[in-house]
Amino acid sequence: MYIEKLKLENYRNFKKLYLEFDKGINMVLGNNAVGKTNILECIYLLSRGRSFKTQRLNEIINYDENNFYASLKAVRGSGEFSVRYGYNRDGKKQIGLNGMNINKNSELLGNLYTILFVPEDLYIVKGNPKQRRNFIDEVLMQIRPNYRYDLMRYYRTLKQRNNLLKNIATKPSLRYTLYSWDQQIIAYGLKIASMRSRFVNIISGIASRIHKKLSGGEELDVKYIVNFGNNKDDYVNLIKESADKDISYGLTTIGPHRDDIKILLDGREAKNYSSQGQQKTIALSLKLSEIKIVEKEIGESPIFLLDDVFSELDEERKGFIIDTISGMQSLITANELYLEGDWNKIRLGVV
Ligand SMILES: Nc1ncnc2c1ncn2[C@@H]1O[C@H](COP(=O)(O)OP(=O)(O)O)[C@@H](O)[C@H]1O
Ligand SMILES: [Mg+2]
Repeated sequence: MYIEKLKLENYRNFKKLYLEFDKGINMVLGNNAVGKTNILECIYLLSRGRSFKTQRLNEIINYDENNFYASLKAVRGSGEFSVRYGYNRDGKKQIGLNGMNINKNSELLGNLYTILFVPEDLYIVKGNPKQRRNFIDEVLMQIRPNYRYDLMRYYRTLKQRNNLLKNIATKPSLRYTLYSWDQQIIAYGLKIASMRSRFVNIISGIASRIHKKLSGGEELDVKYIVNFGNNKDDYVNLIKESADKDISYGLTTIGPHRDDIKILLDGREAKNYSSQGQQKTIALSLKLSEIKIVEKEIGESPIFLLDDVFSELDEERKGFIIDTISGMQSLITANELYLEGDWNKIRLGVV
């Protein structure tokens, strides 16, 4: 899969921009603040229906303007498709796929497949459990459209159960209604946890192979850590046992919203023991693994968006990444060309 062309209007610092891309490696070059990351943000928005930089689309509209517009043409298999996204200060969206209007951001998913790596992704390793769960959820949402619904249902039920817990605290006679919520939340929770845990098993195998090469020999191991035992019976028992505690907190303490992903480097937990550089390399290995997983799922390569890491890598690692992404389209941003090669070079900020 590859993007042929991209058109921006009033998108952040770009009043008007038109770019064409190669099927292979595209180096997006320019000084700080010329808008390199903004271009990746825009492609990500057209791929997922949301930005990785902000939740407020208003921020994206050029300071002097009242609406932004972005569109691209891409090729999947032998067919061309187009995606567009418009937004104005009144909050009105206009999203389109192949010329048809669509209503929801989520309907964009499953068209333009992208894998993004930004320096902040080191928080997958270094950050909190939520950041690790988000990483897994993001990938699953892209390759399993139903996962999004399951996740939404789980979180909706969680919210309702939490409201009930708070109500029980003031009105104990409501307690008998808890049981039916428990059954629902367990059904959704098991689904979420089993999807995540199967996925983590798959990515662990791939990532450990990639990481060994990328790091020059380190052993990476990734595990999904369930906080409600090993099966449905454990879950049922634990949620029952924690009912008093849950009521006093007004919060559900058991379930996949509290799960974590354990990332081990040479047997030690990377968030505690690894250096920042190692953590970044682990995150990169995980993202490169994602490429393999998406390739297998959709039978085609996604588009790899790599922001700002090239400058820090030694020649060998750069070479390894180039090898790994050969045969797919990528957009790599950098201040200058850090690796000579026959790449398509897109220079921003020069007239
Ligand atoms: N809504 C906006 N309108 C105009 N300029 C913006 C807007 N949002 C961000 N910018 C500008 O975009 C620039 C940063 O772009 P960015 O893509 O992060 O640069 P790079 O990645 O090349 O360093 C900044 O100069 C910032 O002021
Ligand atoms: Mg940048």
